[in-house]
Amino acid sequence: MNMYFGAATSSHQVEGGNNNNWSVWEEKTAERLALEAEHNFGHLYTWPEIKFQAQNPRNYISGMACDHYNRFAEDFNLAKSLGHNAHHFSIEWSRIEPEEGQFNQDEIEHYRKVVSALRAHGLEPFITLWHWTLPLWLAEQNGVQNKKFPQYFERYARTIMAALGTEVKFWITFNEPEVYVLNSYFRGIWPPQHKGIFSFYRTVAQLIRAHKRIYQILKNQFPFASIGIVCNLSYFESAGGLINSLLKVGAERIWNHHILGHLKREIDFIGLNYYFHNRINFGFNRNRNEQVSDMGWEIYPNGIYHVIKDLQHYNLPIYITENGIADAKDAQRASFIREHLDWVRKAIDEKYNVQGYFYWSLLDNFEWDKGFWPRFGLIEVDYATQERKIRPSAWEYKKIIENW
Ligand code: BGC
Repeated sequence: MNMYFGAATSSHQVEGGNNNNWSVWEEKTAERLALEAEHNFGHLYTWPEIKFQAQNPRNYISGMACDHYNRFAEDFNLAKSLGHNAHHFSIEWSRIEPEEGQFNQDEIEHYRKVVSALRAHGLEPFITLWHWTLPLWLAEQNGVQNKKFPQYFERYARTIMAALGTEVKFWITFNEPEVYVLNSYFRGIWPPQHKGIFSFYRTVAQLIRAHKRIYQILKNQFPFASIGIVCNLSYFESAGGLINSLLKVGAERIWNHHILGHLKREIDFIGLNYYFHNRINFGFNRNRNEQVSDMGWEIYPNGIYHVIKDLQHYNLPIYITENGIADAKDAQRASFIREHLDWVRKAIDEKYNVQGYFYWSLLDNFEWDKGFWPRFGLIEVDYATQERKIRPSAWEYKKIIENW
């Protein structure tokens, strides 16, 4: 099998005990988010079941999350038992550089142990350097919009690569810059809650600059490293007619290709996160919503195939770095994975260069401003006891991997 199969996590969502811009924001906004729960989630079919949790402010505080910081070895053991041969995770910048310019050697050592544990379990590490959270000192100085952000990021990336660069081949600079910037700098719903189109473009440009800046430096130092970026891409389907077709072209350019277009010479692979498609009918996301997840997200496996095809002209390997479903009852997850992988298989048979698939997520975890109620895990987590329970769909995924 020359395909990587595994699952993904991100530091803030699973580790627990973080002290960063998100943990501070959570404390400030938990009450409000709980009060807004009915307005935000009342329309979901799951509302009667999630209501109690979603209206509790504690739902919105990451706290100990899954305590993966202390339980990573146990979790990798479970991943291995599920047939995985790779794992995608992120490093928490706020642990590594809690004060400006001061690097915490114990935390670097922690991630060295994480990588060793992955290797010991036969799991190829895919490391993301930044999955949306910032050290407090940087958040207080304008975060990603700080003029010096590319320099700060370079210093952090160099420190990590110097520590782990000989043991890790696959590196991702940024996770989904477009989703982060959309929510943090355009819609204003995530920290630092800025709103505006200029803010959006300025911040995207800053992340592009930061990636460009470090790509060559890191390649010179570690020529065997494979460095990519992760984008959340959508299949835009036009409902027909000139206007919808024009909107489709525009949406593809801006959402799917703006960042990749800028970085195509400074990436060795594309990390593709795919969740759902967008049907354009004088507006976006006019999906027919025949089948949805617990979060109301449409299930549209065929879209992953279209997106893969649409990446062909970059002529780069593609790793599906995230694809998953919130499904507390585990009623739809197995078919979700199977159907998406059927389309991935079709793409590979047609010679599209897909080399890996990571289900989101290995564990139930902290789903940002929605808190803990969405359940994405192959493994269920009881947050009161930290007990892990493998969901039946995880065994189905294992069978798919074995028969690939
Ligand atoms: C993000 C994850 C998130 C997942 C499900 C992705 O866009 O990278 O952090 O948990 O979507 O919402």
